[in-house]
Amino acid sequence: MSFLKSGLALKSVPNYFPKSIPAKIGDDACNIDTPSLVVDLDAFEYNLKLLPNIVESISAKGQNIKIRPHYKSHKCPSISVLQHEIGGATGICCAKITEAESLVFGSQSSRAWDILITNQVASERKMERIYNVIKKLAENPQSAPLGVCVDDFFQISLLEKMLASTSFKLDVYIELNVGQERCGVNCPAEALEIAQRITSFTSFNFKGLLAYNGSNQHNRSHLERSETVMSSSFKGKIISCLDTFKENNIKCQIVTGGGTGSFPYEIQSGVFQEIQPVSLFISLLFRFRAHTSLWMLITIPTLLS
Ligand SMILES: Cc1ncc(COP(=O)(O)O)c(C=O)c1O
Repeated sequence: MSFLKSGLALKSVPNYFPKSIPAKIGDDACNIDTPSLVVDLDAFEYNLKLLPNIVESISAKGQNIKIRPHYKSHKCPSISVLQHEIGGATGICCAKITEAESLVFGSQSSRAWDILITNQVASERKMERIYNVIKKLAENPQSAPLGVCVDDFFQISLLEKMLASTSFKLDVYIELNVGQERCGVNCPAEALEIAQRITSFTSFNFKGLLAYNGSNQHNRSHLERSETVMSSSFKGKIISCLDTFKENNIKCQIVTGGGTGSFPYEIQSGVFQEIQPVSLFISLLFRFRAHTSLWMLITIPTLLS
């Protein structure tokens, strides 16, 4: 029986941001408050089960790619739970602290979350909120430590200050600029300097590299997306960083990245251990970019009245 029929979706409306429910299953479309997410749960279930199969079919023997879907597109804790329970996810990415807060303090707060915030937190004001998320995660012994991304020393110094007189641990990833030109370190030497600083602070666990190129998700042809991932400024740069870390005895545990349009190529590149796609669950456009057997899932109707 699909989870649509079990009513799971309605039971788990987040109470972290109390709101009235915009619609009930079975309501007429014209009675739905907008904007709303309208989910075809059968299609969603189908897509959830399909992703691990796609990943397995693309992976080389023994490659063991993990799935850490992004939360930014649905921001719904109960969807994340289903991504874990039937979609093969072993962790989740958040774009902002607010998203992490909605997971750890929201309707699914008892769950052992493994969260990576994929953008840099560069403001002193936000450190208290990061701290509260770390503390809440630590209350559940099954939870992983929070993961954060850095690409400069200022962010690291804020995190060091926040953790200075605590016993909490933080997983730290270095973002590598692989063509998005928005953030991330640009070269192996820069990555090394930052990794050395991270590994010198005992409350940090240096996890590895985040290498995500958002614009590549939107390149139209498969060839273009594949060539971008395999290029010297993408895969080549990751390999140079890994070599540099190795030469300097720095252990890189994981390379993570890859969205809906490109994740097959990140897997095939052989340098990634984890992928982060999410839009494939929700976008018709991505159905054609990613895998034609995926179904359209969610619409966001904007009804004018
Ligand atoms: C770091 C990161 N990973 C993964 C994703 C998800 O990618 P997609 O929406 O192409 O599945 C995003 C989306 O912007 C992202 O910023």
